[in-house]
Amino acid sequence: MEVKTSLLDNMIGVGDMVLLEPLSEDSFIENLRNRFDHNEIYTYIGSVVISMNPYRSLPIFTPDKVEEYRNRNFYELSPHIYALADEAYRSLRDQDKDQCILITGESGAGKTEASKLVMSYVAAVCGKGQEVNKVKEQLLQSNPVLEAFGNAKTVRNDNSSRFGKYMDIEFDFKGDPLGGVISNYLLEKSRVVKQPRGERNFHVFYQLLSGASDDTLKKLKLDRDFSKYNYLSLDSAAVNGLDDAANFRTVRNAMQIVGFMEDEVQSVLELVAAVLKLGNIEFKPESRCNGTDESRIKDKNDLKEMCELLGIEQSVLERAFSYRTVEAKLEKVSTTLNVSQAYYARDALAKNLYSRLFSWLVTRINESIKAQTKARHKVMGVLDIYGFEIFEENSFEQFIINYCNEKLQQIFIELTLREEQEEYIREGIEWTNIEYFNNAIICDLIENHQNGILAMLDEECLRPGTVTDETFLDKLNTICAEHQHFESRLSKNSKFLTDHSLPHNCFRIQHYAGKVLYRAEGFVDKNNDLLYRDLSQAMYKANHSLIKQLFPEGNPAKVNLKRPPTAGFQFKASVGTLMRNLQTKNPNYIRCIKPNDKKASHIFTDSLVCHQVRYLGLMENVRVRRAGYAFRQAYEPCLERYKMLCKQTWPHWRGPAREGVEVLMADLQVPTEEFSYGRSKIFIRNPRTLFSLEERRRQCLQDLATLIQKIYRGWKCRCHFLLLKKSQIVVSAWYRRYAQQKKYQKIKSATTVVQSYTRGWQARKLLRELKYQKRCKEAVTTIAAFWHGTQARRELRRLKEEARRKHAVAVIWAYWQGLKVRREYRKFFRANAGKKIYNFTIQRIIQKYMLGMKSTAPSMSPIDKSWPARPYRFLDGVHTELRRIFHHWRCKKYRSQFTEETKAVYEEKLEASEIFKDKKALYPSSVSQPFKGDYLEISKNPKYQKLNSAMDEKVLLADVVNKINRANGKGTARIFLLTKNSVVLADQKTGQVKASVPLPDLTSVSVSTQSDGFFALKLKEGSASAIKGDFLLSSEHLIEIITKLHRTGATAADSEQLNIDISDEFLVQFKHDKVCVKFIQGAPKNGNSVSCKRKNNRLLEVSVPTTA
Ligand SMILES: Nc1ncnc2c1ncn2[C@@H]1O[C@H](COP(=O)(O)OP(=O)(O)O)[C@@H](O)[C@H]1O
Ligand SMILES: [Mg+2]
Repeated sequence: MEVKTSLLDNMIGVGDMVLLEPLSEDSFIENLRNRFDHNEIYTYIGSVVISMNPYRSLPIFTPDKVEEYRNRNFYELSPHIYALADEAYRSLRDQDKDQCILITGESGAGKTEASKLVMSYVAAVCGKGQEVNKVKEQLLQSNPVLEAFGNAKTVRNDNSSRFGKYMDIEFDFKGDPLGGVISNYLLEKSRVVKQPRGERNFHVFYQLLSGASDDTLKKLKLDRDFSKYNYLSLDSAAVNGLDDAANFRTVRNAMQIVGFMEDEVQSVLELVAAVLKLGNIEFKPESRCNGTDESRIKDKNDLKEMCELLGIEQSVLERAFSYRTVEAKLEKVSTTLNVSQAYYARDALAKNLYSRLFSWLVTRINESIKAQTKARHKVMGVLDIYGFEIFEENSFEQFIINYCNEKLQQIFIELTLREEQEEYIREGIEWTNIEYFNNAIICDLIENHQNGILAMLDEECLRPGTVTDETFLDKLNTICAEHQHFESRLSKNSKFLTDHSLPHNCFRIQHYAGKVLYRAEGFVDKNNDLLYRDLSQAMYKANHSLIKQLFPEGNPAKVNLKRPPTAGFQFKASVGTLMRNLQTKNPNYIRCIKPNDKKASHIFTDSLVCHQVRYLGLMENVRVRRAGYAFRQAYEPCLERYKMLCKQTWPHWRGPAREGVEVLMADLQVPTEEFSYGRSKIFIRNPRTLFSLEERRRQCLQDLATLIQKIYRGWKCRCHFLLLKKSQIVVSAWYRRYAQQKKYQKIKSATTVVQSYTRGWQARKLLRELKYQKRCKEAVTTIAAFWHGTQARRELRRLKEEARRKHAVAVIWAYWQGLKVRREYRKFFRANAGKKIYNFTIQRIIQKYMLGMKSTAPSMSPIDKSWPARPYRFLDGVHTELRRIFHHWRCKKYRSQFTEETKAVYEEKLEASEIFKDKKALYPSSVSQPFKGDYLEISKNPKYQKLNSAMDEKVLLADVVNKINRANGKGTARIFLLTKNSVVLADQKTGQVKASVPLPDLTSVSVSTQSDGFFALKLKEGSASAIKGDFLLSSEHLIEIITKLHRTGATAADSEQLNIDISDEFLVQFKHDKVCVKFIQGAPKNGNSVSCKRKNNRLLEVSVPTTA
């Protein structure tokens, strides 16, 4: 449901000044203050919005607010600038009326911010789409560009617009933006060369110097330091809360969005740099022989750099600063410039350069944002122009600005009155004339074609002869003396003769907003806005496209001897155009007020506000608005708001709204002179009437609230009761069900018990009966069985007796028969025939067995273990013996094939087996390895030739062994040689003999039981070889070495049998000590290698990995 609200709801003070009661300046200001203190910065006067500058951000410009105010009627919500913007936009879109939004107020009052708020609101509510968004973005982004070049910090405003701006936004029939046109008015160009104390130059200079990259600055020949530039004031170069560097980036970005080309941006920056350079050019006097003073440029560096930037020939510009050429119809006269004229020329150039650049920017932006279609469009104009200015010293600029404000006030009066009048006519209400101050007379004083101040100033400027500000003032004094609003000490009007507040060189105008004292000095110059032709021609010659465009009058082909139009004339013309333009549009006013002079939030200075209220003519505005009727409202909302005050209209009025209101008014007995019925609105003459209506409404609302509360409470209680009742029924139904269920369950279980008892009793009875029957049956069976058993046994006995008798008969008969046969045939058989048959049979069997062996005998391999099974048990012994003989025979056969060498090899293997089998764990792995003997091929290898030749006997074994170091258990490689007579150890690398032990000196060899290759050669005590002690060696071919040693030792002359001692602990004699070598089983830590460690003086421990 849409909530109907009204401006009158939750009002702080009064939201619309028209309703202020009593109306006086004090109450007016008090109302403003009251609202301002409660953060209500907007107040209406009818449809005019008064805006107080809050100097801080308020949370009332959010997208939510935009939505709140969108498509709502003006008086529906509390006053807001959005309401005005919405109203304007909707009447533009829906009623096809061109609109203009006029924002006025003094400098720093918030005009520019207000214009931006209006634009952003319109941008937010109008159509969307890619193209439309681009247009919106371009329109919004034109602001930062213009602000950078046209705004500056002043004492009143840190971001004060120093130009007037009027922007037409164009929309299509749907209300989508198409484009826009910006007009600019009178840039305050004097600021370029000189700024009042506490103010600074245009933002762009500071932004460029602090925000541009080093590279850009280098290109522009600039230095970051502000103090290097004469045109930049230093005392307020940095402004609180203003980040120039960041703003520079924003501006560059905005220029890009608006559509500036990269080279255009570059040109613009070059011009800005040129202005700064220009300011640094200084002149010094030089006397000439004819007594006149001539100026010379002091330091030409800046001039040179500036000329380089703009592509101007240095000498041309230098000359233009020294001479002035005046062209008359026929002749050309050149005069030299003195120092002050040179400075004047320089500043004039700087001002012109900058202001023309600014105008070019506006034109360029217009080119980008202009509507692309020629289709008919509607226009919303936003005017943000400098406000009324009264300074201590007011000059030409203030005069022009205030003139502009006079014109705006004029249009304001005209349009508000006209609108009021039109509304009365539209609504069919009689129009009563209203008294108000019309400032047309002041406008006339300034702009009158014949004797207006501007006209006279122009006249003075164009007049031949000496023209000064004094002659101009004289002229004013004579011509305007009679004017009511003109005051001057020397005018013919004698009443000012003694007015000491009026200095002689000043004149005062009574503007609608107050009296302003203008100093005549500079009026003529500023109006002339003279730029020496030599300078414009020098600029035209520049090799820089933009500069050339800016100074078209410098083109020698188009020399125009006529003076250019004066500044005043131009301004008057453009203001005239503006006014005509505004008059064709539907005006919407925003009147900005500044609450204090300190740019501070929360401070409300009465005197300052009062002053503004006065000169803005706000009181008059209210009076005009109230002259007829203070309040008006369409019938529907009026009826909706007050219908509760009358029985007939409450709660619903079925007929037309107007009739409803009539009934209502009659019922309320409002005096008829207090209101009038218009066509669509009711007009209420006095705010008091409205407030009494409001009061009654409030009262009535309270009663209604009570009524609603009463009904609501009743309804709520009843609802509650009904709910309780319903619940009670549900609860009791559930309870009854539960109780019945319980009872039923009890009966059911009782029945079951009774039933079970009965059934048990019956069953037991039946069981007894059945058991009895069964026993009877069993008895019968048993008796029958016994009887049948007896019968059967009797029969069996009889049959057995019968069979025994039959068998006895048969045996007796057989004996008898045999006896008879033997008696009969005995005479036919020899006595030994039986034995012979037996022997024959046995022989046949043995023969068959022996012959069979030939084919069943196993192979000739001695290791073949197979043997056929024996056929008869009695042949057991023969079979075993035959097997043994066969095996011996085949072994002999096998051995007979051996050569001498193979025999020796097998003998060795056999010996090894005798020595080591089942004694040393290493042995099984050696069985399959052939005993090669000479592993080093010592007789063939040239490396060992010398060693070989040193041997007196044939080498039986040559191998590399490890000699275990006694000290640390580490091994050293040695060649081990065995001959028939001795054992030799030699160096592996050199082949040099290290030790030679005759075999007889060897007593025994010790090895372990494990799988290691360690062996100790023990020497005979006292022999020559034993001096150094026993040898502890290790070899991969241990089995072979020991076997060979054993064999050779056995055959060698005068040597005893070599003992082979196999145990895991044995003693070795090292020089004088006996050391125990102990073998332990170690975990396979370092792979499978055997490690030997000296544990102490007496113990050498060898750890042998367990073999899996
Ligand atoms: N509605 C606002 N909300 C917050 N601050 C504002 C508002 N209007 C103005 N200001 C403050 O006041 C300063 C001056 O406003 P500006 O619009 O530039 O004044 P004018 O254009 O009238 O000289 C702004 O820079 C801003 O700080
Ligand atoms: Mg401004």
